[in-house]
Amino acid sequence: MMGYLTIVLAAAAAMLTCAVGDRIRVGDKDGWAQNVNYTEWAANHRFYVGDWLYFIFDKRYYTVLEVNKSSYINCNDKDFIYNITRGGRDVYNLTEARPYYFLSSGGYCWHGMKLAINVEQQPIHPPNPSQSPHKNGAFTRGNNGNMFITVLFLTSTIWAFFLRML
Ligand SMILES: *[C@@H]1O[C@H](CO)[C@@H](O)[C@H](O)[C@H]1NC(C)=O
Ligand SMILES: *[C@@H]1O[C@H](CO)[C@@H](O)[C@H](O)[C@H]1NC(C)=O
Ligand SMILES: *[C@@H]1O[C@H](CO)[C@@H](O)[C@H](O)[C@H]1NC(C)=O
Ligand SMILES: *[C@@H]1O[C@H](CO)[C@@H](O)[C@H](O)[C@H]1NC(C)=O
Repeated sequence: MMGYLTIVLAAAAAMLTCAVGDRIRVGDKDGWAQNVNYTEWAANHRFYVGDWLYFIFDKRYYTVLEVNKSSYINCNDKDFIYNITRGGRDVYNLTEARPYYFLSSGGYCWHGMKLAINVEQQPIHPPNPSQSPHKNGAFTRGNNGNMFITVLFLTSTIWAFFLRML
């Protein structure tokens, strides 16, 4: 019975994970601060549609602005796309598969507070007929993943049925 429960819980957790996405803490323990290499940090993380970025920072000094690529490169904090700054523990939803660029105003961009990430489509995702053909590989894997969970679920349910019969 415990084995059955474990399997069902694992399957449920897997479903939940792919539906909700992860909250990714920018800079890990360093948060959003000066002298952190966010190029290196981003290279060690993967970002998927549905994930959230979680910026933790001292709002007395720093901000989080979404900007375009050229503003990111040039540390231009004028005419930004979106000001994410609220209370210093701020989340931002990654809703599209595309590059995103962020920086802090106040000149701190020059001290490393700039972040570029590339957001990818979720690898486990329900099939979407409107997707372009080159994404098909990802969705095939997604189908297999869902199929696997379904089979696991059915198998464990059947097992539970037999165990109750004993
Ligand atoms: C940050 O790390 C990247 C990759 O390791 C490196 O190329 C770059 O020079 C570093 N930037 C700074 C400002 O140290
Ligand atoms: C990026 O944003 C800046 C500031 O709004 C603007 O001057 C520039 O033309 C934009 N660049 C692109 C490629 O959209
Ligand atoms: C962004 O929003 C914060 C908090 O509302 C505000 O303090 C800050 O001045 C804004 N930054 C810019 C560049 O507009
Ligand atoms: C971000 O996504 C969550 C759940 O997906 C949603 O509840 C929330 O309203 C979204 N926030 C914004 C600012 O879009």
